[in-house]
Amino acid sequence: MKGIILAGGNGTRLHPITLGVSKQLLPVYDKPMIYYPLSVLMLAGITDIQIIADPDGLPGFQRLLGDGAALGITLTYAEQDKPRGLADAFIVGAEHIGDDSVALILGDNLFHGPGFGEILRTSARDVDGCVLFGYPVSDPERYGVGEVDASGRLVRLEEKPAVSRSDLAITGLYFYDNDVVDIARRLNPSERGELEITDVNRTYLERGKAECVQLGRGFVWLDTGTHNALNEAGQYVQILFNRQGVRIGCVEEIAWRMGYIDRDTCHRLGLALSKSPYGQYLMEITSNPRYEEAS
Ligand code: G1P
Repeated sequence: MKGIILAGGNGTRLHPITLGVSKQLLPVYDKPMIYYPLSVLMLAGITDIQIIADPDGLPGFQRLLGDGAALGITLTYAEQDKPRGLADAFIVGAEHIGDDSVALILGDNLFHGPGFGEILRTSARDVDGCVLFGYPVSDPERYGVGEVDASGRLVRLEEKPAVSRSDLAITGLYFYDNDVVDIARRLNPSERGELEITDVNRTYLERGKAECVQLGRGFVWLDTGTHNALNEAGQYVQILFNRQGVRIGCVEEIAWRMGYIDRDTCHRLGLALSKSPYGQYLMEITSNPRYEEAS
């Protein structure tokens, strides 16, 4: 399975912060925002990932992450000259996807919950159709919304409905079989002129091939698109670190724990950042037996 991180957009809701820098490079506590979605794909077992961004933003991501070799993965980059909707990612990324299945994650989505790695790896296995991830929220009108029947089967999908019939938001993480490229190419733009991801998902639903994995109570899904949301996400990450000593979304640690790099390589990545507590953390977890098991 290939991965795509969509890191475009103008970040207008975060102005003036995003006038000079891409939203997905902004800090969420101790690391750039894009580390969080990148870590989700890495946890899913995906090691061939394309980052799609606007021409201004792309060099920043390349500077930060390079070709991925340091993390034992392959990262490539593609330009989206202007925002044309999330589903445009499958057209821009068609060559990267090739004849494989693909996971798309939005560059500003933060997920965290016990057992998430296992959920991801199970869902990524032999995708036939699409797998969506639903999360109950108090303000569903801001998102794509899914409705499930009594047996938990997905029966309806709507994009930002004025009045929502359900509180189940469809998060910015999607797994698809290879048909998605063709479906995206045939899509008509919506009223706002965009290729909507919800229209892609609805096509799968009509074919009886859309599954929704529900991320339940206690699970955390945050989007970081407003000043408040960005601040709250940072606080969430900070609280986990201060209380438990764990850093979530730490791509070097995940690369080591997933076996993409060995312990020594991970330690050296920390050494290169040893003036920062982030680098010191990498050095500590790779030398202190207390961190042997993934937490
Ligand atoms: C997009 C999608 C929406 C999804 C959301 C998740 O909305 O269109 O269906 O629920 O991402 O973050 P946007 O954030 O682009 O408004």
